[in-house]
Amino acid sequence: MTAPRILQVGFGNFGPAHLAAWRALGLAEQLWVVDPDPAALRRCRELGLPAERLSADLGDFLAGADVVDVLAPTDRHFEVCRRVLAAGKDLFVEKPMTATIEEAEGLQALCTDGQVVQVGFYFRSHPLARRARQEVTGGGLGKIRYISARFHGYKRARADSGVVGNDAVHFIDQANWMLGTLPEAVDAVTRDHFGRGYDDLALIRLFYPGGALAHIEVGCIQPGRWNDNIVPGATQTKEFVVAGGIGAAEIDYQSNELRLHRVRHDLIDGLWRPINDGVQLPHAPVVEPTEVVAAEFQAFLAAVEIRGPTQATIEECGVGMARILAAVHQSAAEGRRIDL
Ligand SMILES: NC(=O)c1ccc[n+]([C@@H]2O[C@H](COP(=O)([O-])OP(=O)(O)OC[C@H]3O[C@@H](n4cnc5c(N)ncnc54)[C@H](O)[C@@H]3O)[C@@H](O)[C@H]2O)c1
Repeated sequence: MTAPRILQVGFGNFGPAHLAAWRALGLAEQLWVVDPDPAALRRCRELGLPAERLSADLGDFLAGADVVDVLAPTDRHFEVCRRVLAAGKDLFVEKPMTATIEEAEGLQALCTDGQVVQVGFYFRSHPLARRARQEVTGGGLGKIRYISARFHGYKRARADSGVVGNDAVHFIDQANWMLGTLPEAVDAVTRDHFGRGYDDLALIRLFYPGGALAHIEVGCIQPGRWNDNIVPGATQTKEFVVAGGIGAAEIDYQSNELRLHRVRHDLIDGLWRPINDGVQLPHAPVVEPTEVVAAEFQAFLAAVEIRGPTQATIEECGVGMARILAAVHQSAAEGRRIDL
């Protein structure tokens, strides 16, 4: 296949990571960028992109693009993506796909048969997550009982979304992906300490068919253990644990560590005691964000080439996720568990 012409829409904080990933795939010569902010376009120039491939206006480059990579603020995704889909282009859109269910369903309705859409669920391409999932799907951890995930740290409270839509969404998706199914119910507590209309703290429980539970803590008002690798000055804790009947996988994304616990409980002398067969630390080289985003793009372009399904589809990761996020907000507002 000839190299596709790529249009990147949005060049804010995450913009350079996308540019670096296109470069890592050898596709920088095929890249055009749109951003209404002159400072963002200046930054593109400084990073080596020629002025004639930069614009503030989507209309300048949309018709000439083969694929479009959207990383505008979340509350702008709908207005951008509807134009992209209506123009018949294949779409990679950063998570969360939209700010509301109505917008997600609106985008789905615009998709024609064979149009390729991938939602940017980064961790689906992360080597540690993929290794842990191999354990889950291969039965190495037994029947999954519990997922515990924490994604928090002092960082800016974003103007386009709360920590549910921005952070919890990552680990909700990762729990769904590990378990191979969507939750059947959720309950949640959220807080808005800054009074800006978006949550800055959330405790979320997801109830899965078959009994597995997930608990996800997110927030930007409590410490993180490590410096963030994208946003300067921010701190992060990003930990994900999946526990089954015969073992657990424990990932610390900030320290780049995966621990595989081989433990089960046996009934011995009337007590359920842990039988610990040890902890393995499968070797993984340090994982850079650019390389993970490049792996996402590679999967996307492979789907474009065969016009097949993506690794994070609009049905599951766009519309399905929008329904879960809406249920989280409804549960927090009404103080009750919401069935999906
Ligand atoms: N997958 C991940 O790990 C990850 C990480 C960071 C951000 N994100 C997602 O990426 C998106 C962007 O995040 P960010 O941190 O770069 O945001 P940001 O606010 O720093 O930057 C957004 C950029 O989009 C531009 N913009 C605004 N309206 C636009 C429009 N209509 N068309 C084109 N550009 C427009 C802004 O001028 C700005 O430069 C968000 O949806 C966020 O959730 C994902």
